Parts: sequence; C-alpha cells; structure tokens
Amino acid sequence: MTAAGADLALAALHSGICACTACPLHRTRTQAVPGAGPVRARIMAVGEAPGESEDREGLPFVGAAGRLLTQLVEGIGLHREDIYITNVLKCRPPQNRDPNPDEVAACAHFLDEQVELIRPDVILVLGRHAGARLLPGQPGISRIHGKRIRVGERLYVPLFHPAAALYNGAMLSTLQEDMELVRGYLAEADAERRLAAWRAATGAAPEAAEPLGLGLGLAPSPAPFPRAAPVEADPAPAPSVEGQLSLF
Ligand code: URA
Repeated sequence: MTAAGADLALAALHSGICACTACPLHRTRTQAVPGAGPVRARIMAVGEAPGESEDREGLPFVGAAGRLLTQLVEGIGLHREDIYITNVLKCRPPQNRDPNPDEVAACAHFLDEQVELIRPDVILVLGRHAGARLLPGQPGISRIHGKRIRVGERLYVPLFHPAAALYNGAMLSTLQEDMELVRGYLAEADAERRLAAWRAATGAAPEAAEPLGLGLGLAPSPAPFPRAAPVEADPAPAPSVEGQLSLF
C-alpha cells in the first residue's frame, strides 16, 4: 500500500471508530478517541482507555499521564509526533472505571486493524489492560515489563502504565529504565530492517552480513566493503507460553 493509501485507510478507520455504537460506551462518551500519529510510525503505544481530558479533546494521552508519556519518549531521543498512540478502548468508561470484557471485545477489531495498517517495529503495551488484550496468557506486567515479546511478526514491550508511575517513584524509575531498553530494541529493529532491505535489493542470501555503508539510503560504494558484524540473532526464546508467542 502506498503512503497516501495508508493515510486514507487510517482516516477511514478513525471515522469508523468515531461513528461506532457497538457498545454502551457510545452513550456516555463526549467523543470517541481513535488514536493519533503517523500511519508510518515505527512505534505504537497502546494504553487502556480515554480519560476525562481525552474524552473532551478527542485525542489520546493528553492528560497528566500523557505528559509523562511525552517525557519518557523524549527521554530516549524520540518525538511524540513520530509515535502512533491509541488505547484498547476508544471511548471513555464512566468515572474511568476499568474496561469490561464486553467493551474490550466490541472494540478489539479496531486495534487489530490499526496494528495491521501501521505495522510498527515495536508496540509499547502500557499497563495491565493493554497487556491482557495484546498479550493474553502472559504473566502480569510486573513480571514481564521491559522484555521483548514476539507474537508472529509483531514485537511487543510491556511497560508500567504512565498513570500508575505518576504517583510511584519506584515505578517511574523502572519505567525510565525500561524505556532505555526500548531505545536499544529500536536500534536493533532498525538494523534488521536495513539488513532486510539490503538483502531484498541485492538478492543476497538470508545469512549474508550487511556491508558497512548500506542501509539508511546510502549509496553503495564501488570499493570492497569491510564486513560488518552480522546482526545478532535473538537469544533462544524461553519456553513459549502459547502457540507462536515467545518471551525473550
Ligand atoms: N489516557 C489515555 O489515552 N489512555 C490511558 O490509558 C490513560 C490516559
């Protein structure tokens, strides 16, 4: 799909979310909060549900938790505008109560379509509700935060929810440390992406190492390249929790 086509598809999906009446939350919302960010984002962040500020503004993570999320993202050298941010539920539950299973089920296809369209390198799974929705069967967030979890083609990193870290200094420190891990995971994902592009462009064998200077749009030099170290394979996965889901 072209970038323009993907933009249109995302806009259509957002319109569908804004018009959704599939669960009772549409009666109490001010407006739905589909998500925000570029369709070509390499990082996606998924929270729980809109709160009061988000319900009022129609945008995700614009309250206190959102400000912390912005700081965390900027702390690893990224810009919030480069991240696609959304929630498990697209409408605010009254009094910010926990999402109920019927609401999560009714909303599920929207998040699946967003992931499918954006195809991010890394999905930040913010808090236990996003964890239960995106990584069912995994241990709780306090056991798996900061780890990479691959499910099929997608890479997830569970993190404490910024709203929980707002009032808990230890949790905030852990969240900051986990974000540093995310920085490293992104660098590796970038290297893998460049290697795959180089292999596709040159027809190189899957095990071929990427020559230095390739990737990132640099033109290949005609001189022989020193060989770069191959991108390290992921460590052996721990026993898989279910099907193709592996924690490493
Ligand atoms: N704001 C959101 O958009 N989602 C959350 O989970 C919390 C605050």
